[in-house]
Amino acid sequence: MNDKIKLDISGALQAAAWVEGEIESNRSDLAAAAQAVDAKRKEGLLGFFDLPFNKEGAAAIKQTAEYIKGNFKNLVVIGIGGSALGNRMLHNALNHPRYNELPAGKRKGCPRVYVLDSIDADYLKGLLDVLDLKETAFNVITKSGGTVETMANFFVLKDMLKREVGPNRAAESIIATTDASRGVLLEIARQEGYRLFHIPGNVGGRYSVLSAVGLLSAAVSGIDIDELLSGAETAVKDCSAHDPYKNPALMGAALHYIAYQRGKSISVVMPYSDALDYFGDWYCQLWAESLGKTKHVNGTAVPVGQTPLKAIGARDQHSLLQLFLDGPDDKIFTLLRVEKRQNSFIIPPPDGAGNELQYLGGSTLEKLLASELEATESVLAKRGRMCLRISLPTVSPYTMGQLIFFYMLMTAYMGELMGINAFDQPAVEEGKRITYRLMGRPDY
Ligand code: PA5
Repeated sequence: MNDKIKLDISGALQAAAWVEGEIESNRSDLAAAAQAVDAKRKEGLLGFFDLPFNKEGAAAIKQTAEYIKGNFKNLVVIGIGGSALGNRMLHNALNHPRYNELPAGKRKGCPRVYVLDSIDADYLKGLLDVLDLKETAFNVITKSGGTVETMANFFVLKDMLKREVGPNRAAESIIATTDASRGVLLEIARQEGYRLFHIPGNVGGRYSVLSAVGLLSAAVSGIDIDELLSGAETAVKDCSAHDPYKNPALMGAALHYIAYQRGKSISVVMPYSDALDYFGDWYCQLWAESLGKTKHVNGTAVPVGQTPLKAIGARDQHSLLQLFLDGPDDKIFTLLRVEKRQNSFIIPPPDGAGNELQYLGGSTLEKLLASELEATESVLAKRGRMCLRISLPTVSPYTMGQLIFFYMLMTAYMGELMGINAFDQPAVEEGKRITYRLMGRPDY
């Protein structure tokens, strides 16, 4: 298939003479990073590599999606972090921008989908105000099975649901997605007889969007999950070499790594597409939680990590861009370009006043947005700022599958280059433990 995403590194190579030289001088470290990732994959430690190939899993997900479609008008995903952000990303990218507001006919009869990842009571009440619980299914997602925010929301909603529809119908309205062998949610799900999906033990939260975590709510809203997985499969194949010039994910990691070593402690992702807004949030979690670590060098604790930042084109050209251009040279940029959108709007010439805007007449909104991206690239280049470009032919399940896998693999390579574990989150766990203590949990 020709619908492949492309990484263009010319902006980064032109930014400074040292960039190309440093890719060369890091070649053996890059090959070692690729080798280490391959070895971990072979050992079965990196389950996210296997997800694109899990056809049986996809079939079971589609079956449950049909059950939800046939019996409910709404689906609420309850989760947080890696158990919610991927769902938001897929819906934002692949569904109509006002999906939940469309009449059922225009949603092809698919349920509305909401993601609840906040424990703000006013936010929850706002959601409840637009839901009829009798017509609502819930997909509670927590890998550990005990994340306090998710379980608190779940308990509140489960209680309401039971009172509204009775315990049997409530059990039929709940689908649990959790670890296969441990956790409170697993116990409750078994006790109460919920439909159940498992998150493989070797797939961490922020690497789990291509498992039942992200795929069930996507399938419920009619997203073609086979195409999503097929896109990811393409990226697995296209990103397997140990030479950065033959493996775009390794090249992406190489450029971020050498930029980091040169003091570029911030990685800006800037989609020129509203459909990729939540991709930016998903990326921020992936990069921050995977790479922000304490590294122990000769017995000394050294904090490492590159801070991710999302900006949206063209909106943030009137906000963050001033800092990007005239502020400190501490950033590496990735601009995301969508070659073809589903819609096109011709800009009519201004009638009467507005002579200075005549040049817009007859052009299109897409051309304006594409020109703004090129203008940003060009001013960044003028100032010698490192800038990559990722082009998506269209935003489709197939291209999103590629993009998601590309970023997960690039993060894994980056972890190896930085000499840290990109798959744990010890500081987040520490915060969780303090919350438990503050909430009165006796064993904390
Ligand atoms: O990436 C991660 O591991 C985290 O962001 C988790 O997804 C998040 O803390 C939620 O954890 P759980 O799925 O166990 O509820």
